[in-house]
Amino acid sequence: MIRAQNIHKAFGSLQVLKGVNLIISQGEIVSIVGASGSGKSTLLQILGTIEKQDQGSVIIEESDVSSLNDKALSKFRNQKIGFVFQFHHLLPEFTALENICIPAFIAGKNRNEAEKEANLLLKMMGIAARASHKPNELSGGEQQRVAIARALINKPTVILADEPSGNLDAESSEGLHQLFFKLRKELGQTFVIVTHNRELAAMADRKMTIRDGVVFSENN
Ligand SMILES: Nc1ncnc2c1ncn2[C@@H]1O[C@H](COP(=O)(O)OP(=O)(O)OP(=O)(O)O)[C@@H](O)[C@H]1O
Ligand SMILES: [Mg+2]
Repeated sequence: MIRAQNIHKAFGSLQVLKGVNLIISQGEIVSIVGASGSGKSTLLQILGTIEKQDQGSVIIEESDVSSLNDKALSKFRNQKIGFVFQFHHLLPEFTALENICIPAFIAGKNRNEAEKEANLLLKMMGIAARASHKPNELSGGEQQRVAIARALINKPTVILADEPSGNLDAESSEGLHQLFFKLRKELGQTFVIVTHNRELAAMADRKMTIRDGVVFSENN
């Protein structure tokens, strides 16, 4: 479903990725680990079409993303990729419900459709009672759940998460990790998760380690 072949990426003279190959199947939960600076975020951004590789190809659901122009790429990203970051990146002046709806509005859904879907997601995340709260009125764990709901609203092919529990205490992290597996079970959702959390890396179906610019994959 996602295939990256021979990905190279350099920043100036710094060669970060030196021929990364990977395949991710529908419904898989894959973790990416590696030392700080090894290129985890860079790889995730290339898979998410935010950053362009210097060489190699990224194929998502049969589309070679490098063949898309900027406008087509924005649309593709909005519909096929969900992002979750270490810091939630929610818009502070909007409620949880409104934040979740934004990608659906961008995709052209009307308010009723979007809110209906967002309310279902809030329920699934266990935070229905927080729908009208603004981000600063939510706990860190709740903010991340809202960010996940926002990533899910357009039913993406994959959710790419960069240290999603990096900013949470142990208990909230644990809850968030369980949520990924629940979403896989209930929605068949595919996840690629960059993490420094050993428990999460070990819970995933597969662990990919970036070292010296290439990826080694092992089944858990
Ligand atoms: N836009 C950029 N311009 C220049 N150098 C960059 C840029 N983005 C990343 N780098 C460099 O590329 C290397 C890989 O960065 P990346 O953010 O992918 O690492 P990472 O594995 O995610 O690290 P961490 O675990 O600390 O988040 C680092 O040495 C970083 O300084
Ligand atoms: Mg990083």
